[in-house]
Amino acid sequence: MQLRVTSLPGDGIGPEVIQQARRVLEQVAGGFGHTLELDEKEIGGAALTKFGHPLPDGTIQACLASQAVLLGAVGGPAFDHHPREIRPEAGLLRLRQALGAYANLRPAVFYPVLRESSPLREDVVRGTDILIVRELLGGLYFGQPRSIEGANGSREAVNTMRYGEAEIDRIARIGFALARKRRKKLVSVDKSNVLECSRLWREVVTRVGSEFPDVLLSHMYVDSAAMALVLKPTEFDVVLTENMFGDILSDQAGGVVGSLGLLASASIGGPVGLYEPVHGSAPDIAGRGIANPLGAILSVALMLRHTFQLPREAECVETAVMSALGGGLRTRDLARAGERTVTTEEIGWQIAEFVRQAAKTGGPSDRVSVSV
Ligand code: IPM
Ligand code: MN
Repeated sequence: MQLRVTSLPGDGIGPEVIQQARRVLEQVAGGFGHTLELDEKEIGGAALTKFGHPLPDGTIQACLASQAVLLGAVGGPAFDHHPREIRPEAGLLRLRQALGAYANLRPAVFYPVLRESSPLREDVVRGTDILIVRELLGGLYFGQPRSIEGANGSREAVNTMRYGEAEIDRIARIGFALARKRRKKLVSVDKSNVLECSRLWREVVTRVGSEFPDVLLSHMYVDSAAMALVLKPTEFDVVLTENMFGDILSDQAGGVVGSLGLLASASIGGPVGLYEPVHGSAPDIAGRGIANPLGAILSVALMLRHTFQLPREAECVETAVMSALGGGLRTRDLARAGERTVTTEEIGWQIAEFVRQAAKTGGPSDRVSVSV
């Protein structure tokens, strides 16, 4: 089949990890007989530098004309003092909006082969398989009004957390539908003891939940959920939450399973899916060839599964990642003291090579359950 993808490497380690993700995607296309049409465009700081805008029209048009978007990361210290509308992050938020990508899926899975990488005891973290379903187009990120106003010394800043019933309803449906395909447990995370938005959230989620009687629904306050995520990560299946809470809890989930560098994400709900690693641009290690490309490569697997409905190809990528880790390849973030580390390029090449071999022999032999 035809795979029309726009790649947006962006800033920091974005280009390095996307280069490896592309290499894997190209190998999948070649090995499984698909035609890949890959267009590369600018976003974030890279776009600001070239065009003076974090999301140029050409980028939006290319994304809307493709079936899926593969994004690296945006942001960097050079832009930290820019006004909000011309920060790299504004480009990403506008892209999410333009694509109508309201449902952000962030799987966090503990791989036994990486047991030494998690800071948690193995008996605590073993078996962790969480899917964070983060609402992506509402809440504090987009609510109006927002401002910083007043004279220096007495300025006031305002952000608005706003949610409408329809917005909560549609993300809840995604969460329940996904829970149905997994272990049928959904925890909705809110702060309904303090926030109106959360009270409405809980009410609407409960109402939607009544249409999914086979899914066990519970509610947690976000502070208590943050603690439980560290104390008993295995108790979670699907975590459904609003934009800001989901941003915070997903980084925490990355820490729980060993490295944020492993986490992939899919932002769906609109006509074009957006796939990106959860880690950011990591300017401190950019350009050194040491970034972990697994989050980006596993985002390709999510793309193959969700946008292209190619589960065999998705599994092949996931199995290749497992084989690389199983063979002892570790980027710096995953390595223990004294352990040999590999570069971004080395691990990317090896994974692409595993994909090539698996495709030749008719796909992966053993199933790896990292599916969402
Ligand atoms: C993420 C990132 C983004 C977010 C930033 C870069 C705007 O932290 O995808 O988690 O906050 O959503
Ligand atoms: Mn984040």
